[in-house]
Amino acid sequence: MIPAYCSNARSNVVELMDAEPCPYEEFAACLRDIARINAATNAHAPTLWWLERLWRTQDAGNGAFRVLDVGCGYGDALRAIARRAARRGVVVDLVGIDINPWAKRAAEAATAPEAPIRYETADLFAYDDGPYDAIVSSLFTHHLGDDEAVAFLRWMHAKARRGWFVNDLHRHVVPFAFIALVTRVGRLHRFVRNDAPLSVARAFRRADWDALLARAALAGAPPRVRWEPLFRYCVAWER
Ligand SMILES: C[S@@+](CC[C@H](N)C(=O)[O-])C[C@H]1O[C@@H](n2cnc3c(N)ncnc32)[C@H](O)[C@@H]1O
Repeated sequence: MIPAYCSNARSNVVELMDAEPCPYEEFAACLRDIARINAATNAHAPTLWWLERLWRTQDAGNGAFRVLDVGCGYGDALRAIARRAARRGVVVDLVGIDINPWAKRAAEAATAPEAPIRYETADLFAYDDGPYDAIVSSLFTHHLGDDEAVAFLRWMHAKARRGWFVNDLHRHVVPFAFIALVTRVGRLHRFVRNDAPLSVARAFRRADWDALLARAALAGAPPRVRWEPLFRYCVAWER
């Protein structure tokens, strides 16, 4: 059998965090461990650079710059965005949605009450709030099947006023082996030990993104697919 990380097809094995209901403490511990990996791998940097580019051309008269983070988990990306915006003097209104109610509780517990961030429990496909200037996601699209990923691209394209940004893993043997080792040696949460290498196997290669974008047939300039250090692919589009 060809291991999923080096096969041409994405794995369709469901991650434990999507499949197995668990107590709040377990889910929160899992999200905290993912946030530690995000911090150690500087995972939010491409999203922050992209937002900074949008902020440079933001008209101050338009009010707060609204960002939606889909599948926000622990909320660490939104807290990083809030810190960067404060440093740049940009007023932001940040919303995170996650289908798992434990995510909202864990993210709220980790967020200062004065931060311009609100968390909601929602399935993105049933979520109809907005409009948003920018829609971002991190480590999220690999949770979707190909048809859902195409629907997600169209959904963002229809809803984002200024643009959208996807930040997710690259399916490759190096991150697969690295993350399997690190999560075991670091004795991370059992969900993370199982799901982190599986996430890589469920993730995308350049050809996958090209095929999904071709199927989505989005209007306007073609989105840009870019490899980022520590094995991520980011897909960006601005209106
Ligand atoms: C691996 S976590 C990523 C968390 C965070 N964005 C990060 O970068 O660490 C993926 C999150 O997506 C959420 N999720 C999965 N399907 C979803 C859906 N249809 N709508 C909203 N959230 C979803 C899961 O509950 C989970 O918290």
